[in-house]
Amino acid sequence: MCGIIGYCGPRRAAPLLIEGLRRMEYRGYDSAGICLGAPGGLALIKTAGKVKALAEKVPADLEGNCGIGHTRWATHGLVNEQNAHPHTDIQKRFALVHNGIIENYLSLKQELQAEGFVFQSETDSEVLVALLTGLYRGDLEKAVKEALGRVEGTYGLACLCIDEPGLIVGARNGSPLVVGIGDGEMFLASDYNAMIAHTRQVVYCEDGEVITLTASGFRTTDLANRRIEKSIDHIDGTGAEAEKAGFPTFMEKEICEQPESVDRAMRGRLSRETGSAVLGGLNMSARELRSVGRIRILSAGTSYYAALAACYMIESLARIPSTAELASEVRYANPLVEPDTLFFVISQSGETADTLFALRELKRKGARVLGVCNVVGSTIAREADGGIYIHAGPEIAVASTKAFTSTLTAFLLFALSMARSRDLSLKAGLALIDELSAVPGKIQSLLDRRQDLDLLAQKYLWAGNFLYLGRGINYPLALEGALKLKEISYIHAEGTSSAEMKHGPIALINESFPTVMILPQDSLRGKNISNLKEIKARQGKVIALATAGDEEISSLADDVFFIPPAEELLNPLLAAVPLQLFAYYLARRLGRNVDQPRNLAKSVTVE
Ligand code: M6R
Repeated sequence: MCGIIGYCGPRRAAPLLIEGLRRMEYRGYDSAGICLGAPGGLALIKTAGKVKALAEKVPADLEGNCGIGHTRWATHGLVNEQNAHPHTDIQKRFALVHNGIIENYLSLKQELQAEGFVFQSETDSEVLVALLTGLYRGDLEKAVKEALGRVEGTYGLACLCIDEPGLIVGARNGSPLVVGIGDGEMFLASDYNAMIAHTRQVVYCEDGEVITLTASGFRTTDLANRRIEKSIDHIDGTGAEAEKAGFPTFMEKEICEQPESVDRAMRGRLSRETGSAVLGGLNMSARELRSVGRIRILSAGTSYYAALAACYMIESLARIPSTAELASEVRYANPLVEPDTLFFVISQSGETADTLFALRELKRKGARVLGVCNVVGSTIAREADGGIYIHAGPEIAVASTKAFTSTLTAFLLFALSMARSRDLSLKAGLALIDELSAVPGKIQSLLDRRQDLDLLAQKYLWAGNFLYLGRGINYPLALEGALKLKEISYIHAEGTSSAEMKHGPIALINESFPTVMILPQDSLRGKNISNLKEIKARQGKVIALATAGDEEISSLADDVFFIPPAEELLNPLLAAVPLQLFAYYLARRLGRNVDQPRNLAKSVTVE
């Protein structure tokens, strides 16, 4: 949610900042801007719109070797050039980019206006600039610390001062910031992807830290001016994974990567010798795992739907009571922490504020909290007591796809290992391993038939609403299918349990309100068929996802897409793919920007 980049070094900063912003554009894409310490003063260029529009405004010969940039996801104030970052004072002595929310900005703004500061934007961020102008006495780092002492809220920020050329001061509280150490040059960004083409040596900033950066190095202190020693991490990958690789969109690429990403989530973790899964990152002994009496999984959005499905897996295989909860609700519910409860937080990005703050609240109460994350080194991954990396690879499209199936895979492995340490037999464990190993191939077979889903999408382009139904472990899939459709196509869709339909949503059904039903050949098939008939009796159209070979469904539904047969708990891994593709093709046919849908951002680092 908003991308921040800073550069100090011998090279021209502008192209590096623009490139960094492009790589972070998935974090926010309302407006963008850069500011450099240029020969005649601070050079500020901003625009409403995407980084491409900014790049067109930046002169090719723009001088300046030290600068900051930002791509915005609006929180306070309309999307326009004035509200775009960087923000400067009228005299252009200070420039600042900010990610997060200054919660006491209104009272500060009134106070600063009374003192004569003229605000140029509607943003909360600009109060930080105003504070700097009043507090600056020749030392930017000191002024930043004093300013931060006056604000409440969250921030990742970077700022410049005309009087201290070649210097960037950054600070973090609740919004990610990472330093990149190059060869005679330094970077600062909210996401290491922004600088991965230039360096793999990174230093993660923690809350309460202030970073003072020049071309030759950096130092970290806290607000009370105490020096903090930091360690350097090495980032793997080349950044090429974050390219489209010939696909028209990141979302299509990421959907199509699922045979490999699901395989990666399992690689090296399945043991045929023990019929179990080996998850070294949990940081828990076998004895500790055996004594877990309850599992609570916290997350948001698609990760929450993965959590709902994970609970079915854990309860059904390991017989441990499990609940999925919205992290945003748990944080403020004064959560009970019982000694035998194991908490999980799921977050693809590892930066979602709702989930991160819930994790901190639980840890403060002494809970053991494991993280299930995709982004290595992300804040949640670092602050959790242990966990499982899903290894899906960079997910750039705003709509989560491969992270969902990889998270489900990770929880299947966890459920298997918990079950095998309880009462699941070796034979049953081995059978599940065989089933799991077949999933990547089955996903590939679905992808090979993806044109059928494009045709289906074309057929239903007229629909303004969709109902999604599923039952049991496929109920969360109905929620996820509806979320995918609404977030990228802007078509209204709602998901519920097939059984719940008769308690209300059936009132919506008529010939122009189609239903997508996840209806595999499982223990609830008969019940689902009754629901399907109830829809047909009301002239509703039904698109069914059914198990290959279940020809009866063809005679009942208006349209059917078949998924390969699988063990009941594995069906979501297969059903997810056609749901993603159906939403994708509908959105594409409607001309939507599927990678960067309106009003959304990939990583939601504000509450
Ligand atoms: O990075 P996280 O998994 O914590 O993100 C949680 C949600 O913001 C995310 O899943 C969101 O719902 C996606 N846009 C769904 O496609």
